[in-house]
Amino acid sequence: MSEITTTRTEAKPKIYIARRIPEEGLTWLGDFESKMWQGDGPVPREVLMREAADCEGLLTMLTDRVDGALLDACPRLRVVSNFAVGYDNIDVAAATERGVLVGNTPGVLTETTADLAFALLLATARRLVEGVEFIQQGQWRTWGPLDLLGGEVHHATLGILGMGRIGREMAKRARGFDMQILYHNRRRDEAAEADLGVRYVEKAELLQQSDFVSVHVPLSAETRHYLKAEDFAHMKPTAILINTSRGPVVDQAALYEAVRSGQIGGAGLDVTDPEPMLVNDPLLSLPQVIIVPHVGSATRTTRGKMAEISARNLAAALKGEPMLSCVNPQAVK
Ligand code: DGY
Repeated sequence: MSEITTTRTEAKPKIYIARRIPEEGLTWLGDFESKMWQGDGPVPREVLMREAADCEGLLTMLTDRVDGALLDACPRLRVVSNFAVGYDNIDVAAATERGVLVGNTPGVLTETTADLAFALLLATARRLVEGVEFIQQGQWRTWGPLDLLGGEVHHATLGILGMGRIGREMAKRARGFDMQILYHNRRRDEAAEADLGVRYVEKAELLQQSDFVSVHVPLSAETRHYLKAEDFAHMKPTAILINTSRGPVVDQAALYEAVRSGQIGGAGLDVTDPEPMLVNDPLLSLPQVIIVPHVGSATRTTRGKMAEISARNLAAALKGEPMLSCVNPQAVK
């Protein structure tokens, strides 16, 4: 782990970038005196506290906890720009109280994340990882009429929990597979119904009727364990759960038990609780569960755009200009 100083001059506002980010972002930060964490993993908390102490701007990752203690350690701070659309790592209320703006990166990762969610749906339904392992383990001796049978995707029913940007993109992909699409959302979305042919149902009905359930709600106090044992009890024994939102939205111990006992058919997860997940987590022992390491937005193009938006948010806030996306504009009177 190491750090480098990129630029230091007197007059420029100081910023700290909590991880190496794509070049597309760095080009927007030339007007600042910047330091960037160079380690492979997240910047250690004590280093972040120390480095941010005299900074006016912070560019953070979803792995960095920004809470009251950190904010209090940085009295000059004016903006925290998160390199993510989700900002559950940031205590937004604490930032607002202290007049610190918070930025995020909506829009640019919507389709990329929906692509990954649909890839997990297909891979889990058609047992792709098991198929690869079957070959690697030397078990592919002939074609077998009963080998590796999965579930149909086309014409199946998809239930989307959370009809936001990513939920809508998931629906678009499902239409290409002639799926029937149910959704549940805090508010009915008549525009989505008209545009995408999706049908609003209560959460319990969605769980009962769906062959696939894909979760697209942000993590908040209300959505922690949004899916738990009693919800899995409503689902079909063949149903597959897809989660590309945040790990704690699903009660992971209850999910393990539901899949292990055959109450549901499997799961495709891009996010876990905790992250990184422990290598001895029992979920990893279930062949019906495919887990990838939070790579929903991980394409070169999308990460470049996330870098650009997070850098531009930071630069705009420090120059007193409107941010591209600010979650608490009320922080500045
Ligand atoms: C986000 O932006 O919130 C994603 O989870 C990371 O790509």
